[in-house]
Amino acid sequence: MVEKLKIAIDGPASAGKSTVAKILAKKLNYIYCDTGAMYRTLTYMALKENAISDENHLVKLLDQAKITFEQRVDGQHVFLNNQDVTEVIRQTDVTNNVSAVSAFPKVREELVKRQQEIAKEGAIVMDGRDIGTAVLPLAEVKFFLVASVEERAMRRYKENLSKNIETNFETLKQEIERRDYLDTTRKVSPLTQAKDAKLIDTTGLNIQEVVVKMLEYIQSLSVLKQK
Ligand code: CDP
Ligand code: CDP
Repeated sequence: MVEKLKIAIDGPASAGKSTVAKILAKKLNYIYCDTGAMYRTLTYMALKENAISDENHLVKLLDQAKITFEQRVDGQHVFLNNQDVTEVIRQTDVTNNVSAVSAFPKVREELVKRQQEIAKEGAIVMDGRDIGTAVLPLAEVKFFLVASVEERAMRRYKENLSKNIETNFETLKQEIERRDYLDTTRKVSPLTQAKDAKLIDTTGLNIQEVVVKMLEYIQSLSVLKQK
């Protein structure tokens, strides 16, 4: 595909967004941008400074934070001022506090600006919660991925097992439900399906099946046929 499309992927926790976004980006030779990693990186900084509830302090932290992505052979790495934070931003304390941090309007304003800058040339697959609604409202292609909470918790459970991380299925499920609640009820750009987004229920679908559906949809779009 030659067009420099903007592809927005939104949906709740563990719907499979980042997994399929990476595959799509590779197939299309596009950039992949994980916006959740940016909110996670700020949360990681804020936990160290005891600043997760202080919006002005969070904004100051962001001022000092250069957040960048780098493609390596083993996948995409996230850097905070050149420190590799790829692993630490996935820790449970970050996961359990990121929705509170990301609800602050000034935090969103700054990160949305940075995300729009990253996406400005197109040829990008960006995933998150508000990409189709707030970050890239004019994206040519928008997806909204969902799956039952049981399946999403089971995906995380299996992912943890494969990394030898002991977790409890019920606890994971509760954490996901809590994050979904906070992300869908916050005042500024809550998680919601954009009107022009293609809804894909991935319950019972494996990764390849989801990717095939997405590619079929991209190819079916009339906006592309006109180009
Ligand atoms: O764990 P998972 O991969 O589902 O989440 P993530 O994409 O890493 O995002 C972590 C959190 O960041 C979400 O639960 C949201 O609170 C927040 N987020 C957001 O508010 N807006 C985005 N565009 C991306 C993430
Ligand atoms: O980015 P998001 O939080 O939406 O989800 P993810 O991190 O891409 O996917 C969470 C887990 O579900 C990963 O271990 C994926 O391999 C797995 N997955 C799956 O089993 N089936 C799918 N259709 C999509 C993802």
